[in-house]
Order: sequence, then structure tokens, then C-alpha cells
Amino acid sequence: MRDNSFINQMEPWFGTEEKKAINEYMEEDGWLTEFKHTKRFEQRIAEYTGAKHCVVVNNGTISLTLMAIAAGIKAGDEVIVPNYTMIATPNSVKMFGAIPVFVDVEPETLCMDVSLIENAITSKTKAIMYVNANGRNSKSGIQKFVDLAKKHDLILLEDAAQSLGSRFPDGRHQGTVGLAGSFSFSAPKIISTGQGGAIITNSDEMANKLRRLKDFGRSGGGNDIHDTIGFNFKFTELQAVIGNEQMKKLSERVERKKEIYSLYKEELSHLKQVTFFEQDLTCTTPWFIDILVEDRERLQQQLKEQGIGTREMYPPINKQMAYQVNGQHKVSELVGEKGLWLPSAAQLTNNQVLRICREISLFFKG
Ligand SMILES: Cc1ncc(COP(=O)(O)O)c(C=O)c1O
Repeated sequence: MRDNSFINQMEPWFGTEEKKAINEYMEEDGWLTEFKHTKRFEQRIAEYTGAKHCVVVNNGTISLTLMAIAAGIKAGDEVIVPNYTMIATPNSVKMFGAIPVFVDVEPETLCMDVSLIENAITSKTKAIMYVNANGRNSKSGIQKFVDLAKKHDLILLEDAAQSLGSRFPDGRHQGTVGLAGSFSFSAPKIISTGQGGAIITNSDEMANKLRRLKDFGRSGGGNDIHDTIGFNFKFTELQAVIGNEQMKKLSERVERKKEIYSLYKEELSHLKQVTFFEQDLTCTTPWFIDILVEDRERLQQQLKEQGIGTREMYPPINKQMAYQVNGQHKVSELVGEKGLWLPSAAQLTNNQVLRICREISLFFKG
């Protein structure tokens, strides 16, 4: 990114290392299908997160679907999800006929509000899909979700798509507390393989089921014997070769994302029209710079004219045409009205961040 070029809200970051690795791979092996590099990528994610197993798949929506199916969720079962999340969270279970049930989120963190879950539980509820919004931790603590799931005999799954590099306050990586956790490597994520997803779990049984389900339900490596229905949700070596190079850069990016967030906060917190959420940088890594802002549309337009890209945060899911479910969810509705993502790529320079903040201050101060 050059300092004076258009600043996209987000862009992936690949360098010469990825190009070199792809070229080397193409010289060495032309199969492209999942093999040693994929295994190495899975090991790297397992090591980084401290999970016993990691299974990679073709994207971070399918990883949610696969994790839910492997956990035993079936058509007709209800799954509690936050009303503020990427639409992939509910869609991933809708895909096989399960029913997402929406619960509002905490105003400080945008993670699901645990105090609202009990009211949403019915005899059909099978699972809670917790989303670590922007890598943040719920203010009430993950243990409350674990206890609630236990009390009602529900499965706890984590959609940690935005959370690689974020931990719970006790040091466990996000995605490792529930039965399984899911990540995405789509273009805007902290590391990307273009498309890609991963499921981590400490359960041997889950890992075996996941591996079987993603490979047509094959009972053994490469054979055509199928005891169960399965799918083709496999990865490719090309993605893994890139993913392995990206993983080498993850720790640096984690630090840089925190620096960028701190600089934005330093420069913008004095504006009464801008509100930041509560992000604890000691253990979590902001994926995007998310704020609530007054006069969002005009600000976006003005920034665009100055060569700065932004993106509106997710609208409340129950109000999306695709769902249209009755219910009042004040926090997700507020985010739908005022939530804005500022440029958030790890490759942003300090000068670019300062330029963005200057433009925002000018907009509000006139
Ligand atoms: C919370 C959440 N879940 C799921 C997904 C879907 O991941 P993918 O785009 O890899 O399918 C995303 C993508 O942004 C996400 O933010």
C-alpha cells in the first residue's frame, strides 16, 4: 500500500515468499490436491492455537456446517446464534435444515449476550454457536456459556472466523473451549488462502468424523467404501503452500493490528460522535477497526471522496430479507444503523492511519 493511493477498507497481504513457495511447489509436484503441505498447515494451526486437532476445508462457512453436522446437529434442531454476525453463521446450519434462533449481543463487545440465551431455549434447542466478534471476549466470560450449555445439555460450538490471534483472558486460544471451533481464511482475514476454513477440536472422535465427512464419508484413505454420507469439502495444496507462508507472518500481523487499533483510538477517542467497543489488546487482536458513528452515510461519502474506503457493519440478521424473523434486538439494530468498519489491513502505515483520522476529525469539526 502506498501512502497516497486509495485506501481499501481491507485487502489481503501476499508477498514474494508466497510467490516463491508456489513456484517451488509447482516445480516439485503437480497434483495440487491435499497432501503434505495441507498436513503441515493443519499442524501449524493446531500448534498455534494449542488444539489437539485441526482439519482444513474449502471455506469458513463450510467449516461451520461440517462442524455442526459432525457434532450431531440435524434438520429441525434449533441452534442459538447471535443476531449480530456474518450471515454465514446462521446460514451454515440452515444449509442442512437446522433452525437458527437469534439472540442479541452485548453492547460493549458484540458477543452474544449470555443473559438472553435461556429465554431462547426450547425443547428443540441442540446447540449454541458462539461468535468471538472481532476477536473480542464476551464481557460475562466464556465460562458462563460453558455452564449454560452444560445445564441444558447443549453443544457449544465456536465460530472464531474473526479470531485467529485472539485468546481468552486465561490464555486459551479462542475456538478451543467449545466442542470445536472454526476459522476462515477468506481474503479479508488476518491470514488468507483466498478461500479456506479450519476446524479445531480436542476431541479425537470429532476429528475422525470431520475427516471422514469432508472426504465423501470414505471409511479409509482413498478407498470407495462408505458407511456414512459424506461430502467433498477438501482443501488444495496450492492454498496450503500459501497458508504456510502466511502462518509465518501471523505473529507480526497480530502485533501490527494491535498497534493500528491503538493509533486509531488515540486519534479518534476525543470525538463525541465516535464510539469504540471494548477491545482488550492484552489477549485479543482486532480483526477490523469497528466503531459506532453519527452521520454514517455522509461520513462514508466524504471519506470515499478523499480516497478512503469504509464498510457498513453487518445489519441485524433477523431483519435481513433472507430471514425476516420477528423480534427486537436493540444492540444489533444500533450496529446496523451506526456501525462502521474503517480501513483495517495489517499493511496500513501509520501515516495512512493518521490521514484517515485527520479526515474523520475534519468531517466532524467542520
Ligand atoms: C463470523 C464469521 N463466520 C463465518 C464467516 C464465513 O467465512 P468464509 O467467508 O470463509 O466462508 C465469516 C467471514 O467473514 C465470519 O466473519
